[in-house]
Amino acid sequence: MNNMLNDLQEVILMGPGPSCVPDDVYTAMSKYTLGHMDGEFIRIMDAIKSMLQQLLHTDNKLTIPVSGTGSAGMETCFVNLIERGDPVLILKNGVFGNRMEDVASRLGAEVETLESEWGTPIIADKVRQALQKRSDNGKGPFKFVAIVHAETSTGVKNPIEEIGRLVHETGALFLVDAVTSFGGLSLEVDKLGIDALYSGTQKCLSCPPGLSPVTFSAEAVETIQSRRTKVPNWYLDMNMIINYWSGATRVYHHTAPINMLYGLYQALYLILEEGEDNVYARHRQTHELLVSELDSLGLKMLVEPEYRLPMLNAVVVPDGVDEARVRKELRETYRIEIGAGLGALAGKVFRIGLMGHTARKENVDKLVSALKKIL
Ligand SMILES: Cc1ncc(COP(=O)(O)O)c(C=O)c1O
Repeated sequence: MNNMLNDLQEVILMGPGPSCVPDDVYTAMSKYTLGHMDGEFIRIMDAIKSMLQQLLHTDNKLTIPVSGTGSAGMETCFVNLIERGDPVLILKNGVFGNRMEDVASRLGAEVETLESEWGTPIIADKVRQALQKRSDNGKGPFKFVAIVHAETSTGVKNPIEEIGRLVHETGALFLVDAVTSFGGLSLEVDKLGIDALYSGTQKCLSCPPGLSPVTFSAEAVETIQSRRTKVPNWYLDMNMIINYWSGATRVYHHTAPINMLYGLYQALYLILEEGEDNVYARHRQTHELLVSELDSLGLKMLVEPEYRLPMLNAVVVPDGVDEARVRKELRETYRIEIGAGLGALAGKVFRIGLMGHTARKENVDKLVSALKKIL
């Protein structure tokens, strides 16, 4: 019988995620599986929590990886915080803002949205106006205001610092999607007043997909614990999961994905070993190199410099170029993956990821030299 895995060769992952995984993370994932209630494993869980707190700059006790990808983190935040009829404001300028809206609507929230054109950021002044309008109408604060920090579908960085301040002035909670930003851009959760945040392992943390780090402020935890109704999703109910991830006596909730957690442990360890600031600088420098190399090929970026993400570069497909053919040739001839445009940007942009371990000069060099031949 032919084993398909024997034929797998490495692909340089320069798309919107997953990103390239360091050998140390693969090695970590192949260590012996322990029992999910084993004392040695629980010490590894505690170390993961503490590394997440360190990298997210938070004292939040409820800082854990949820079992599931980034979307499970999104669902976790929404399903725990929302009760039917709660008013929420979703700031959206891409696919993942739309997904938030969908998730909130399914939970019966009273959803308001504020949309910016794809490829442009959410403007703080417009958020101020939306918040003001609600209070002028005599309505109480939103339960929370949610925003995507790094909109992977467009390559836009949203100004969460300014917006977070505005949200807090109204007494609403502030919820941030950091799936693509965590590990590539500084995230000071406590300083920014973020009450709920979720991420994913397969972007700038450079671990395979499968876990979603989340953190909840004390106020968010209180909101969850004082719900009038049960969290409608058993698997993601933080009231129960908390008893597995903390306390002297751990209570089984679901069988933790042990070897995925080894991978996350190692990925966080590598970032701390390299130095957080060095990791962010590496992302920035690799992005600048890519932009200048693409510019010399006559390729233009979609997003204005001020709002560009270092880890996700949306590049305008030049007239007359078949973008699907370019991606196919990169994958088949050069074993490089880049991403296609999504939604409104389908066929109009390439999405080039420089996430985590992928954000290295040698990868930019390989991609640019391949693009020179193809174009
Ligand atoms: C900003 C953002 N949010 C949420 C998600 C969903 O994460 P996942 O695909 O891991 O479920 C993604 C995935 O690309 C993302 O980029």
